[in-house]
Parts: sequence; C-alpha cells; structure tokens
Amino acid sequence: MSKVLSQITDNILFLALNNGKVNALSHELRQALYTQIENAQTESIDAIVITGNDRIFSAGADITEFGKPPQSPSLVELTKTIENSNKPVIAAINGAALGGGLELALACHLRYAKPSAKLGLPEVNLGLIPGAGGTQRTPRLIGFEPAIKFITSGKAITGIEALGLGLINGLVDENLKQQIIELCKSVLSKEIAPISSMPCPNETDNEALFDHYRAKVARTARGQHAPLKIIDAIEKSTLSTFEEGMAFERSAFLELLKSEQSTAMRHVFFGQKAANKIDNIATNVKTRDISTVAVIGAGTMGGGIAMNFANAGIPVVILDLSEDSLAKGLSTIKKNYQISASKKRITEKQMKERLTLVSGTTHYEDLADADLVIEAVFEDLNIKQTVFKKLDTICKSEAILATNTSYQDVNQIAAATSRPSDVVGLHFFSPANVMQLLEVVRGSETADDVLLTSMQLANTINKIPVLAGVCYGFIGNRILSAYLRQSQLCLLEGATPAQIDKAMENWGAAMGPMAMGDLAGLDIGYKARQGLSDDNKEDPKTYSIADAMYHANRLGQKTGAGYYEYNSSTREKKASEEARKIIESQSREHGINRIEFSEKDIRERLLFALINEAAQVLNDGIAQRASDIDVVYIYGYGFPKFRGGPLHYADSLGLDYVHDRIKTFYKASGSRYWKPSALLETLAKDGLSFSEWDASRSAIKS
Ligand code: COA
Repeated sequence: MSKVLSQITDNILFLALNNGKVNALSHELRQALYTQIENAQTESIDAIVITGNDRIFSAGADITEFGKPPQSPSLVELTKTIENSNKPVIAAINGAALGGGLELALACHLRYAKPSAKLGLPEVNLGLIPGAGGTQRTPRLIGFEPAIKFITSGKAITGIEALGLGLINGLVDENLKQQIIELCKSVLSKEIAPISSMPCPNETDNEALFDHYRAKVARTARGQHAPLKIIDAIEKSTLSTFEEGMAFERSAFLELLKSEQSTAMRHVFFGQKAANKIDNIATNVKTRDISTVAVIGAGTMGGGIAMNFANAGIPVVILDLSEDSLAKGLSTIKKNYQISASKKRITEKQMKERLTLVSGTTHYEDLADADLVIEAVFEDLNIKQTVFKKLDTICKSEAILATNTSYQDVNQIAAATSRPSDVVGLHFFSPANVMQLLEVVRGSETADDVLLTSMQLANTINKIPVLAGVCYGFIGNRILSAYLRQSQLCLLEGATPAQIDKAMENWGAAMGPMAMGDLAGLDIGYKARQGLSDDNKEDPKTYSIADAMYHANRLGQKTGAGYYEYNSSTREKKASEEARKIIESQSREHGINRIEFSEKDIRERLLFALINEAAQVLNDGIAQRASDIDVVYIYGYGFPKFRGGPLHYADSLGLDYVHDRIKTFYKASGSRYWKPSALLETLAKDGLSFSEWDASRSAIKS
C-alpha cells in the first residue's frame, strides 16, 4: 500500500501519511509525498492538506535510516517543494508531530492542530539538532528566545500551547476534515508567504542573550554538544539569510550525526523500546485488568509509589498499621501535590482529582478487592514474608501481589504465599514519583500474564520498565555495589572524596559516589552492610572508611557532615578536614601507602568494575539484553545518556581494552571481584561488542 493515501474532496487534495505506527518519514514516504505534491500543481486542485493517521501526524525522520547513504528526495528537498507549491499546503496535525514531522508542518503555508496534538522538536534527545529547517523556521515564526527554549528542551507541547506560542494558525476539533475544508476555502484567494521569507526578529543585545542561553544549557545539559549547536544555529538565523542558515544547520546536523554522543543517545532510544519486550513469551498471553491498586507502607517509598497511580487516574489505597504513620504519609502526598500545583506543574483541578484518588486504611480487609497490591515495607525478609502471608489470605484470586524490595529474594517472598505465580517484584527507585526506572523482577514461578501486565502497567504510569531476574540487588543495585566498592578502595588507597566525585562528574555523571552517599545518608549503607548474609559479606577493609564515618556520626547531609561538610542553610558542600583525618587514619590502619590518582585512574577503577559486573549479570541471565542494563543505569542511576550506558560505553572503548585493564586490576589486587566475566572475555577474544551480542541473540529469537 502507498505510504501516502490520497483523496480529493471539493477540489482539495487530502494526503494522509500512511507509514506504520508512527509515520516515520522514510525514503518511500518522502518520495510518495513529493510526487503527490508535484502532481497536484494542476488546475483541478485548489489546495493540498497533509495529515496523519488516527493517532500520529509523524514521528519525524526515520531514525533507522541515519548513517545510511542519503536518498533523494531528502526531507529538506521535500520541504522546499512544499513551500514552492503553487497551491497552498496546509498541515492538519491530528496527533504527534515530532522532529521532521513538525518541520514538514513548518514548511506548509498554514498549520492547524487538534488541542491534544503533541508538537515538538525532540532531536536534542538523540544528540542532534533539527535538520530540515527547524532551527531556521521556528525563530522566524515565534521569535528566537521562545525557539531556543522550545528546541533545546526537546519537549513536546500540546496544540493549545502551540497556538499560544504562535507555532500554529488555529485549532481544529474532532471534525477535522470538514473544518479544514472550510479553512482552505477561506484562504484560497489570499497570498500566504512561506516562513522562510519572513525576517528573523532581531534585538540589539542578541549576543549577550545568546551567551546567557549558552551558559544555561552548559549547566542544565552538562557535557552535551547538541544544545549548544542548536543555539548556534538559531543565532545564525538572526544574522544570515534563510539559505545560509539552512546550510549551517545541515552541516551541524551531519557533524552531530557522526558523533559518539548521538550514537550513544540513539542506542538509548532503541534500547528503551527493546526493554519493553519480554523474550520468549507466548503471543496469546492476556494482561490482567488493573483498575484499583493498594500500597502497603505509608513511608516515603509507599507514598511515592501511590502517587504514580493517582497521576495516571488509578485509585490507590495505602495501608499502614499505624494511624500516625498513615496520617503522616497522606499529608506528605498532599504537600507534594500542593507544591506541584504552586509551581504550576499541575493545575489546581488536577491536584484535587489526584488527591481524591488516594485513600488510606489500617485494615488489611480493605485490600480484598485490589487488582494489584504493592508491598513497600521495611527491607527485611521476615517482615515481607509476614505481609505476603496475610495478603494471601485476604486478596482476591486474580490479584497481582508485588514486592518493592531492592535486595530481598523474590522467590522466598513468593514462597510465603500459596500462589507464587501471582507474585512479582516491582522495584521502584527513590523518589518513586520522580525516577523513571521500574525493575520488574521475575520470580522463578511468576506467571507470564503477571509479567506482561506489569510491563504494560509501567508504561501507563509513565515508567520505563526493565525485566530482571532474581539475584542480590537485581540488575541495578548489584552492579552499583561493584562501583561503590571501588570508590571506597580508591579513597583508602589515596584519592580524596572531591577527586573521586570530580572524576565522575567531569565525565558526565549526575553526581559522584561520595556526594551521593552523603545525600542518601551513610547510615543506610552501614545498616545494609550489617544485614548482609555471610555469602554477601565484604572484606571489612573495603568499607572501613564508610564504617568509620558512621561511627563518628558523620552521616552525610542529614548531620551536616559526611565525606564533605555542608552549609546548614545552603547545603553547599566543602572539603572536610575531619573527613580527611578519618580517611588517612584508615589507610594507615590497613598499612596502605597512599598514592596519587588521576581522573582516568579513578574512572577506570569505578566504571570497569561496574562493566565487569554488568557483563556477569548478562552472563547469569539476570538481564535479557546488554541494552537493558544501559537503560537501567540511565534512568535509575543518573548515568549520562550521552555515554549510552555502561555497556555501550565499554563498546565505544573497545572490549579488548576494557578486558585488558580488568585483567591488570585482577592481577594487581587478586580480588575475586576483578575476575573477568566469562562473557566479557569471550566477546573481547572474538572481537565482538555487547551490541553485536544483543543483535545476534535477537536474530536467533526472531
Ligand atoms: N524513526 C524510526 N522508528 C521510530 C521512530 C522514528 N522517528 N519513532 C518511533 N519509532 C519506532 C519505535 O522504535 C518503535 O519500534 P518497535 O515497535 O520496533 O519497538 C515503534 O516505532 C513504535 O514507537 P513507540 O515509541 O513504541 O510508540 P509510542 O506510540 O509509544 O510513541 C512517539 C510514539 C512518536 C511519541 C515515539 O515513538 C517517539 O517519540 N518517537 C521519536 C520521535 C523523535 O525523536 N523524532 C525525531 C527524529 S530525529
């Protein structure tokens, strides 16, 4: 079937993009649209309308074509043909118009959108800038400051917001076709100048303004090249002709397309889509209906989890056996929503609607009808098993029983019930109403429909799900412990907290491990270490500094001092003399001669330990794919998206190099933790990458 469906009504040619689910602007679609517009330059046609399918106008350039030889007509050629059309071309934006999809609409003479349509230029999320005039037409249409904010954010806005911004000419409702016909008739006699012929608004202090925005994105999108290039291209639109601006945009786009950053960010885009999929699940598995949810535990985690469901319009009841804790938990939720409303992140109406969806109880009997129950009580196996025993006696037979445990054995929790196939791990990350990652933990008996329901529910509540198997810490926390272990050993061997954090932050991490420890509270890690089973206990030397900090009541930000000291009002941190003494005395106590570390030394120790453990997680079948591990790290642990995740980063360095360095660390330390993973060893030997490993496995499955 053609990639563009055509229909003529009242001399108006309607062209509906028709390319799969998202109307990506593939070569075939571009060619079909180009030909249709060329052929429509006849007397029998008065106007041309471009629209999409039921849901989507167009998701933009076909990302799978990036890096392949260009094929004419390019999107730029197509936009020129649209602008030069003798007949007015009107974009009827029925759904998402993103990236090239919006650029196509910007080349049209007029644009109308449904109020709920989503319009955006998200290229920055792929490490790119718009490449078909987005940086040149948008500032001409809406002004260069709004254009900078719109394009560097990469966020989509609604049709209503787009009208406010001046990006579209008007709104159309459900009766889109009839309204568009009327609109077309009303403009037929008018001359409509294309956006490219408009002058770009100019101001005298442009340079200072552009510098202000450059400084801003350098802070908010630290280390990323694309946002700066977007500002350069928009600046160019204020200084040059449209054609010169287009040439600048094109060359910046092509330069970024080849960059490591964009390669990494495109890997994350497809990794996130792949993470949604469960391998080897029968196609006839049906999901369970989830209309009511219960959360056990009104603490920070339980409250945050509950908010996700209320945000998605799903009623949620929170159970806490203590009236006081319940009241406190419900009041925190109310406060959180009030803050969001006062910051205009949600409307007053939304706040009220969400609050009415959250209720509380102290009686287990009130959970009898819940479709899904999520336990978020204290991280203790016995307590969790007691909760699940109780749930087993109360919940209806088709309910899904989930645990939010971060470390405990989901199989042992499931074994406390008579229905282990209904039990699953749903590991939210703190703060649960903010962090995007959700580890869905598959127990040895978890039923396929429970897993499928959990993965789809994650999308409903706006989370990014990744399937994990059962092991201590699942995917994320198991790998994190390898990273944290090395950060402690580097401290003991000679690095300072600031050097370690700087090495990681300069590389792009949202926060270094020492500052992260201080933020979380050093008592959390201490208590977790105390609770470790004998199998998981560490050499006491490894965490001797963290333990000493705990014993000195330096618990981090909450006590004003940890690895750093904190200003009580601003929370600004500075190096601590006291911490230095504790660190150096521990080195002495363990007979260690402190040495100098370079940033590269620190990074290799921390990241290569993480990569080795990640390879082992993959080898053990705990993660389905290497890219799943990358997704976990980006959306759950603040790993910089432009590095593509730990295993993509390892691929970019070359696995033979990474493997060699790990072997060197193993030889030098003799530590079992540095034993190279068998999978890493094999891939390095065969000259393969993790992404080739993923591709070969998905080829076997399909
Ligand atoms: N090019 C190629 N493939 C694309 C694509 C694009 N621009 N946008 C989406 N796809 C693919 C996805 O990879 C997915 O493939 P899969 O089914 O094999 O996993 C499929 O289309 C459906 O996408 P999905 O995101 O699951 O659908 P959705 O309905 O949840 O969301 C969009 C639709 C359009 C909002 C979302 O896909 C999106 O944001 N796309 C990217 C837009 C973009 O960045 N455009 C700029 C390109 S430079």
